[in-house]
Amino acid sequence: MKKLPVSKLLPGMFVQSVTKQTGRVKIKSQGWVKTQTSIDKLIKAGILEVEIDPDKTLTKTVPEKEQTKTPATKIKRDPWQKTHSAAQEMNKAKKLYDEAKTLQIKAFKDIKSGLNIDIAPFRELASGFMDSVFRNQDALACLTQMRQKDAYLLEHSINVSILMGIFAKHLNIEKDIIVELTTGALLHDIGKIKTPDEVLNKPGRLTEAEFEIMKQHAVYSKQILEESGLTGIAVDIAGMHHERIDGTGYPFGKKGNEISQYVRMASIVDVYDALTAERVYKSGMEPIKAFKILKEGCPNSFDGELLTKFIQCIGIHPVGTLVKLSSQKVGLVTESNPAMPLKPIVKTFYSAKHSRYTEVLDIDLSNKRIEDSLETTVKAGDFNIDLERFYKNSVLP
Ligand SMILES: [Fe+2]
Repeated sequence: MKKLPVSKLLPGMFVQSVTKQTGRVKIKSQGWVKTQTSIDKLIKAGILEVEIDPDKTLTKTVPEKEQTKTPATKIKRDPWQKTHSAAQEMNKAKKLYDEAKTLQIKAFKDIKSGLNIDIAPFRELASGFMDSVFRNQDALACLTQMRQKDAYLLEHSINVSILMGIFAKHLNIEKDIIVELTTGALLHDIGKIKTPDEVLNKPGRLTEAEFEIMKQHAVYSKQILEESGLTGIAVDIAGMHHERIDGTGYPFGKKGNEISQYVRMASIVDVYDALTAERVYKSGMEPIKAFKILKEGCPNSFDGELLTKFIQCIGIHPVGTLVKLSSQKVGLVTESNPAMPLKPIVKTFYSAKHSRYTEVLDIDLSNKRIEDSLETTVKAGDFNIDLERFYKNSVLP
């Protein structure tokens, strides 16, 4: 017998038993896996590791190098396919997120000292984000929800980049374009470095004069990227993410077809992240409310068809959302369920009924034997829950 991570399982192998899984889905654990589709189903069901009987392997397994060869014909990707579990991906995702913060800080410094941005590390990071999203988008998606109130400018651009990657993957966009999209998103607000702090961080409504100053950040973002040697999609995103379909946006007042699909995607993601962000002066809006506001902006401001697809891929209860179940258990959504959006996998660790931490449980709400359901989204502050404790201890997802 040999234990294997499910990502290494190949068609033809004989699975003796499941040795590790996230959910509580009971699967027929013994038998041959004959197709890649059935392996994908195991991954989707939360199976992490299996025990195989090598003596019973039906066909010679294909060497790993050959498996990764690009097929001659273009295959339509399954937007939900995951090659790794979210837990397996989490450490890599955290490293990428930290790298992104360091890079952003360096870029801010460079611009302030009159230097251009070194684009190459940003492209490399964007490519890293994309690979992580393709392995399992839930890990980075989870990190976009772990915000610090005072790090908005930094985290907003990183989050927009990650969400753009997830969105683009969902739309089956080619990988080299996804890298351009995520690079542009990482730097879309870099021009804000030239916006005075009192305007940038003003909690209340901006005066007309202040708003005019604010609008300039998009012009600066475009300039900075062009001066740093970027062209095309990334520059369009930086310069036009505040343009609106009816021409009421800024800074150029572009409208309709003048605004590309890529820029339309960026404008949706940008507003979504801004609305759901925790700020020093406001708490983050629930995703469902943010979706409602974006919907109200269709078709005048946003592209309705793209928005529907964005909601589909992010989910009504995105990964990382804190929720309360009808059993009064409180936990985080750790895996979305595209087929049944109200039945994700939830990692519970707190009892609202007894106001205390509990043992950590992975509850798959789609499992028919689980008599529990998602009641509502909640805020950590409602229960004095210390989420940092869970993040730091890598208990999640
Ligand atoms: Fe902006």
